Amino acid sequence: MNISSYFSSELFKGKTVFITGGGSGINLGVAKNFATLGANIAICGRTQAKLDSAAGELRALGAKVCVAVADVREMAALEAALAQTKAELGSIDVLVCGAAGNFLVPAEQLSANGFKTVIDIDLMGSFNASRAAFSQLKETRGSIIFISAGQAYMPYAYQVHVAAAKAGIDMMMKNLALEWGRYGIRCNSIVPGPIEGTEGMKRLSSPDALAQLTAGIPLGRMGTVDEIGQVAVFLASPLASYVSGTVLVTDGGQNLAGSALFNMGAEKMMNAAAAAAKNNTGSAR
Ligand code: HXC
Repeated sequence: MNISSYFSSELFKGKTVFITGGGSGINLGVAKNFATLGANIAICGRTQAKLDSAAGELRALGAKVCVAVADVREMAALEAALAQTKAELGSIDVLVCGAAGNFLVPAEQLSANGFKTVIDIDLMGSFNASRAAFSQLKETRGSIIFISAGQAYMPYAYQVHVAAAKAGIDMMMKNLALEWGRYGIRCNSIVPGPIEGTEGMKRLSSPDALAQLTAGIPLGRMGTVDEIGQVAVFLASPLASYVSGTVLVTDGGQNLAGSALFNMGAEKMMNAAAAAAKNNTGSAR
């Protein structure tokens, strides 16, 4: 779906969107949706080549693009990236905190530094970006979108570090919404479900488990990066001018199937009980 069939292709004309981790995956998908609607885009990340390739795709959509190599764990690098963005594209109107790190590991095997690394990238990185962007967002009465995850409110095996980081992000988002509302700054989170073709899915699920995973999603399929981009566009747009402090779950209803495995087991048990009852009836005759 092309978002400009639904929203004006000038919706974000003259606006600047800064996206951490914008070189790939969901974050690049978000960037492309804003670019399609006229926004200029700044992306930061750790790998120059990845950023350059993403910038080419964004320029092809008509956006002016600012690229900055910056690790969200380094405040000075973020401050420099935001200053560069202001100089090249003007003060930012939207900040998307999307940079994240993830790997599966049993909690008893996770080192303190492994835990800290994900907290540093996801939670500290989101605070760092918000803090570094504050003065520009205050000037534009802009908004912040955090890319959270279902791990923030439901425990997933082998994801203790991500759970702590993402839950922290959602609570931080609410605090910032509370404190910065007076400056006209809105803050919201998006919780993507399983999104096809992303680094996250590559890291978190083996290909042969995907059919089972997909079957547990009420809408019966994984989401696309565009479907997260569309939600980001809505949250940043005037259509959401009174929306702040909210967590917008965008997962095809996946979280509703939290009891799916239990239900499968229960169904087997019921079937076995029914078969046994039938046999008993038969033998009594
Ligand atoms: C156990 C691990 C590990 C693993 C790293 N560590 N990988 N522990 N299992 N697979 C530990 C290391 O041993 C080390 O601790 C510490 O973590 C830091 O590791 P480094 O490799 O030095 O860190 P760094 O180079 O900064 O890399 C960060 C990273 C890496 C998170 C570890 O995977 C990364 O850069 N990821 C970015 C891309 C990414 O993950 N994208 C997916 C996001 S998806 P010690 O104690 O040995 O020093 C996502 C979606 C969530 O977030 C929700 C989906 C539904």
